[in-house]
Amino acid sequence: MILSVVGARPQFIKAAVVSRAFATAGIREEIVHTGQHYDDAMSGRFLRELSIDNVIANLQCGSGSHATQTAQMMMGLETIIVERAKSVRAVLVYGDTNSSIAAALVASKLVIPVIHVEAGLRSFNRAMPEEVNRVVVDHLSDLLFCSSIHGVEQLAREGVTKPTIEVGDVMLDAFSTFRRHAATLSQPDFIEGGPFALITIHRPSNTESPERLRAILNAMAAWGERCIWPVHPRLSERMRAMTVPPNLVLIEPLSYFEMLASLKACQLVITDSGGLQKEAYWAQKRCITVRDETEWVETLECGWNQLWDPEHFPIAAVIAREPTAEWQPLYGDGEASRRIAEAVRGHFGE
Ligand code: UD1
Repeated sequence: MILSVVGARPQFIKAAVVSRAFATAGIREEIVHTGQHYDDAMSGRFLRELSIDNVIANLQCGSGSHATQTAQMMMGLETIIVERAKSVRAVLVYGDTNSSIAAALVASKLVIPVIHVEAGLRSFNRAMPEEVNRVVVDHLSDLLFCSSIHGVEQLAREGVTKPTIEVGDVMLDAFSTFRRHAATLSQPDFIEGGPFALITIHRPSNTESPERLRAILNAMAAWGERCIWPVHPRLSERMRAMTVPPNLVLIEPLSYFEMLASLKACQLVITDSGGLQKEAYWAQKRCITVRDETEWVETLECGWNQLWDPEHFPIAAVIAREPTAEWQPLYGDGEASRRIAEAVRGHFGE
């Protein structure tokens, strides 16, 4: 049995397609939810919408400092894995969250192989908690799946000798699998209200300092176009204390299907999320990334994605720069989860 560990919103989306591929390949899987994301809008709604029904436990380790959150997850995961020690062939983690590092540390100390989906990504910025998490998880993993050749090459440079396979991106599998279905459902109301830019900003580097957040809001105000911003719960209280310009419409977090519909309808994406940069690309929408660097360098190379420093550049100047290359497929062909399931069966059996 493969024990998968998830905890944050994007991991539910990735798990939805990988779990289906495991089921098709006859691989038994159980999922543990760390509870890192716990609001219904960030967690339960995603599990229901994506029909994820093999979650065996929720450890309820939401909020808290990084150390507190990670330590509580590790204690809960250790109990669950030890109870199942005879049947767990490997522990699978996604991406770079605190849930991922907690699971990788516990499994490797119990000498249970670790599988890492979305391996080899680097921002080279150790001030990001995700960068620390992904470096540690990669170096503890026994089977690593990369979204592009960049990841495979990076892991080789770092001396990772465990099997490293380029499979494509599981979020593209989800995007391809669910977008047609999403288009058949009732659309969020704001889509009818005219053209809009879709905004998601939640990273600590953009939201912890009031000056930085103010600079972002001021830049949006100066731009003046209609912006729809589904607000992450980490930010909602802080936003209530700010003066929000009238062209910015703040809404509750979107479900995955609502997000797919919004991507289809929007003019442009402005984000600091990792996943949304790729989803914007697959939807053939331009993306402005509110960060100094990105792990998804391929989207920068063709100019469809651009980095933006809101404190020093007007956003209109960034938008005025057109993509430098024609759109072409990136990050695989939507079959990453099938390849992952085949490789997992090859390494660990059913
Ligand atoms: C986490 C990941 C980030 C990922 C993001 C996806 C880490 C270090 N970061 O960031 O890589 O892009 O998930 O959304 O793992 N909160 C709520 N309700 C919730 C969830 C969070 O109120 O359901 C608030 C709490 O105040 C919490 C804060 O948001 O302390 C931060 O949440 P946390 O899960 O620690 O990190 P994210 O910012 O969501």
